Amino acid sequence: MDSFYITTPIFYVNAKPHLGHAYTGIIADAVTRFHKLMGRDTFFLTGTDEHGDKIVKAAEANGETPKEYVDKISGLFQQLWPSLKVENDKFIRTTDAAHIKVVQDVLQKVYDKGDIYFGEYGGHYCFGCERFYTEKELVDGKCPQHETEPEYIAEKNYFFKMSKYQGWLIEHIKKNPDFIRPERYRKEVLSLLESGALEDLCISRPKSRLEWGIELPFDTEYVCYVWFDALINYISAQGWPDGDGFKEYWPAANHLIAKDILKPHAVFWPTMLKSAGIEPYQHLNVHGYWLIKDTKMSKSLGNVVEPLEMIKTYGLDAFRYFLLREMSFGQDASFSEEALVGRLNADLANDLGNLFNRTLSMTHKYFDGVIPAPDDAEEIEDAEIKKLGQNSMETFQAEFEQMRFARALEGLWELVRGLNKYIDTVQPWALYKNKNMKRLATVMYVMLENMRKIAVHVWPVMPEAAVNMLKQLGVEFDPRKVDLSKEMDAWGLLDTGTAVAETSNLFPRVDLPATDEQGKNGKQAKTPGKGKPETELFAEFEDFQKLDLRVGTVVNVEKHPDADRLLLVRVDLGEADGPRQVVAGLADFFQPEDLKGRQVVVVANLKPRKLRKQLSQGMILAVKNGEKMELLTASGNVPEGSKVS
Ligand code: MSP
Repeated sequence: MDSFYITTPIFYVNAKPHLGHAYTGIIADAVTRFHKLMGRDTFFLTGTDEHGDKIVKAAEANGETPKEYVDKISGLFQQLWPSLKVENDKFIRTTDAAHIKVVQDVLQKVYDKGDIYFGEYGGHYCFGCERFYTEKELVDGKCPQHETEPEYIAEKNYFFKMSKYQGWLIEHIKKNPDFIRPERYRKEVLSLLESGALEDLCISRPKSRLEWGIELPFDTEYVCYVWFDALINYISAQGWPDGDGFKEYWPAANHLIAKDILKPHAVFWPTMLKSAGIEPYQHLNVHGYWLIKDTKMSKSLGNVVEPLEMIKTYGLDAFRYFLLREMSFGQDASFSEEALVGRLNADLANDLGNLFNRTLSMTHKYFDGVIPAPDDAEEIEDAEIKKLGQNSMETFQAEFEQMRFARALEGLWELVRGLNKYIDTVQPWALYKNKNMKRLATVMYVMLENMRKIAVHVWPVMPEAAVNMLKQLGVEFDPRKVDLSKEMDAWGLLDTGTAVAETSNLFPRVDLPATDEQGKNGKQAKTPGKGKPETELFAEFEDFQKLDLRVGTVVNVEKHPDADRLLLVRVDLGEADGPRQVVAGLADFFQPEDLKGRQVVVVANLKPRKLRKQLSQGMILAVKNGEKMELLTASGNVPEGSKVS
């Protein structure tokens, strides 16, 4: 049986878990479930990173000893995972005795090889990142992550000869195109490695400054640098050097991280492994950041999203679906409750929920709630929907394999929507009226069997809903009995004569909860919906008149220096003071050169505001078309500044 080993970063225990941590845990879980269904022997590791300055400071601030503090916060992570249905096989803590022993053994091995030396070093130290920064890496003299000025520290320390492995690492990355993925991060690492000599890595901290760490086996006056300690968790958890887990799961490891910790995983870790004579891991999978209105989540801004709050309000499955569907793997994404509610209502309540509601109730109406035996004769619509189903499942599986979850789900929803259309085309109610029961039985079977296939495919993403969906179809779900890779071609797995549920009600529509800004009635979901008050369904003419929409020509476009998804677009609206800057969320869809020279429609009187420190004076109007974006424009060229009315 093929093995599949996946890891999340081990999370720092200096603060409570939030949306970002939950996301990595959820995708690791979804990937594990997917590989289980593909018949692989899986192992999923997560845990907590508990040494270092940062933890000591957080413990002090709480009036607790480091040990008391790490036990408490590590406990919060351990409690979080079951509530998110994240089912890890092991939870590692860097304070575990077995981990400490492995770290010391690796250190000794690297030391004996002559790859660790003692030296004096002065450098810019960021306490937030717990690492020294080179001059080149600082941005305006500040740490690029924390935007704080690092402290200059000079002391004697131990160094790992990372530079010795620079050439080997470049070669390894070039020879293995999927070692780091997606491609943009592979390129980023290669350009970092090729832009100059790699510095050696300072891997110790004197105990006089920090005691909370793993003691170096060759000098009791020092503890190990927290990153050198933490990265080793991926092999200590498997009992390196001769544990059964290590033999089975290494090197077929998939590390999952966000872009913030790319360098330690892409540069420190493989060179450490190389020096210790251990094969490098197989894949490093790097995802983007969840942002809140284009800004980083932070306690001081008060915009931290609590995963447990979200699942209380919207349900676990909808939350998991949204996270996987909304973020294009590798890129940043914005989290908002509006967007979550939009997806829940459109994809889950409308598309998937209705499919189940309609089909189950028709099975009751036409066949007393029992799955009918299909007739052999197949009509063109049946063949078409089967073909669509095959393509859609193929896309789902191929994209999921590559961790492109949004595309995978988009692919699967082709079948969900296709089935809703199939009902509209074949019109079971008309067949019933005409007493064409043979044809009706086939139609119902086509529906129900495809719904079973959908349910099995969504299990990695929505484990609770999938089990319910299958139960409604009279199927007792056992993941060990499923072979997802055969589902494309399999037909007829749903037993005829089985009773199905009368109602489904998997995903009731939801409205956004009211906030102070939205007034007492609260704002309704943005998807088209019935039952909204008239004031919300219609805009008054005066409301529309307030908008100043103008056509302008794009004269220049640059990438936003601090936000992957934003572009700085200069638009000429024929104004005396020249083109104005609009910050637009178009970077996922257009290269700067695609936009230059095009005419666009701009909301010209939108209140100016700064998006990630860049002034935006207006908004460019566009239409989302699946994964693409189309720009609004006039049907012919018009003078700059022409008003849209
Ligand atoms: N302890 C180190 C990792 C050591 S691994 C050997 C660490 N911990 S952390 O608590 O800061 O976690 C960072 C990770 O949390 C990110 O790489 C990502 O997996 C997750 N996220 C934290 N904030 C996030 C977002 N806003 N968005 C998406 N994921 C984020 O670094």
